[in-house]
Amino acid sequence: MQVTIIGTGYVGLVSGICFSEFGFEVTCVDLDADKIDALNSGVLPIYEPGLDRLMEQNRQRLTFTTDFDSAVAQADVVFVAVGTPSRRGDGEADLQYVHAAAKQIARSIKPETVIVLKSTVVVGTNAEVQRIIEAERPGVPFSLASNPEFLREGSAIEDFMRPDRVVVGVRDKRAESVLQQIYRPLYLRDAPIVVTTPENAELIKYAANAFLAMKITFINEVADLCEQTGGNVQEVAKAIGLDNRIGGKFLHAGPGFGGSCFPKDTRAFAATGRKYGAAQNLIESVVSVNEARKKAMAQKILAELGDTPRGKTVGILGLAFKPNTDDMREAPSLAVIPVLEAAGVDVKAHDPQAMGEAKSFLPNTQFCDSAEDAITDVDVAVIMTEWNVYRALDMQTVKKLMRGDVVIDLRNIYPVDAVEDAGLTYVSVGRSRTK
Ligand code: UGA
Repeated sequence: MQVTIIGTGYVGLVSGICFSEFGFEVTCVDLDADKIDALNSGVLPIYEPGLDRLMEQNRQRLTFTTDFDSAVAQADVVFVAVGTPSRRGDGEADLQYVHAAAKQIARSIKPETVIVLKSTVVVGTNAEVQRIIEAERPGVPFSLASNPEFLREGSAIEDFMRPDRVVVGVRDKRAESVLQQIYRPLYLRDAPIVVTTPENAELIKYAANAFLAMKITFINEVADLCEQTGGNVQEVAKAIGLDNRIGGKFLHAGPGFGGSCFPKDTRAFAATGRKYGAAQNLIESVVSVNEARKKAMAQKILAELGDTPRGKTVGILGLAFKPNTDDMREAPSLAVIPVLEAAGVDVKAHDPQAMGEAKSFLPNTQFCDSAEDAITDVDVAVIMTEWNVYRALDMQTVKKLMRGDVVIDLRNIYPVDAVEDAGLTYVSVGRSRTK
């Protein structure tokens, strides 16, 4: 079976490379010639653990090209994995790339091709794309399915290979049987395949992301209450998570969620609710509470710098929105660092992978080669992203390197006494201070 993937962003690349690992011949298409040249010389445009090795191992089954029409013409299945960014102003998902891909696909498909929407698209998009293709190529038989992706950056390969479920939204048996064949290797590993309508598949993707974002926002607000009442959010989260109806995952309090998915998908879900007169009030709140939280983290840091932050220095450990990625999209660090700098604070920062990405967003920040460099002579050190390299810092050394003595841990990766015993003041999230 010939598989073609349109779009070599996160989802497109991970899916394409993983399908080639299943044994399929895969062609990945992108309009960006530089990206395709880099991929052809073995260079990935993103950092994702293990993906370079998997690409190398399956090189003979992978083609990277800018030749859209030939890649689509030869395909039995075409996956659409182009971006659906937030539209400025109203937060709705911008579907222009999906619509453009649909028109171009329509021009080149051979009869009986199965087209699959993998991009995150709002309910009703599948039906709209069906109309676009029918209008472009009247009389040519094709099937259109929706197959949302649930992988997480940083653990994308594992999530793809061992998913909790695969969702396929189909209108006909042909699309169902082709998708069953594609995902057969997972079926043999007992991954449940949920076969449903395209509309349900579209709703499932947004509802899943919105629910997870809501869970994080909930525990973040509980963390605020813990701070005011002498509580400990980690103990609260652990105990409520032991109730199977709640579940322990996605209950880590932090600086607010970021990334390429939760912020834009919650905005789009809320906008869809408004559009159809079915208000998603919970998710509207999640969007605004999370935005406010990221900004509040800057105030939390400024509060530790006293009355005159100007001229003080803060060291930031971690810039990416989460560990194991170089993705800076909607990262909490981007809501925090410019506010500190505007208050006259000098910011030094380190991240194991994201500094290249971060530089264009943070022109006034000093980037450091190591965590130690980033905290040398600083008044306050901040753990912003929970990379493994920051999990076992020797606090005695931290104390010696710093000018001040305040460590702010926005990810709660240290036991309170482990930091305080080194003579440092430890400020974390949702855990009351002992000093
Ligand atoms: C998320 C979903 O988890 C995936 O299932 C989905 O496929 C993906 O979006 C998508 O729609 O493409 P991702 O954005 O890669 O994946 O990362 P997550 O691990 O979900 O983290 C998102 C944000 O929430 C990060 O900023 C993270 O630090 C934060 N988070 C996560 C918390 O603050 N607390 C938690 O307990 C979990």
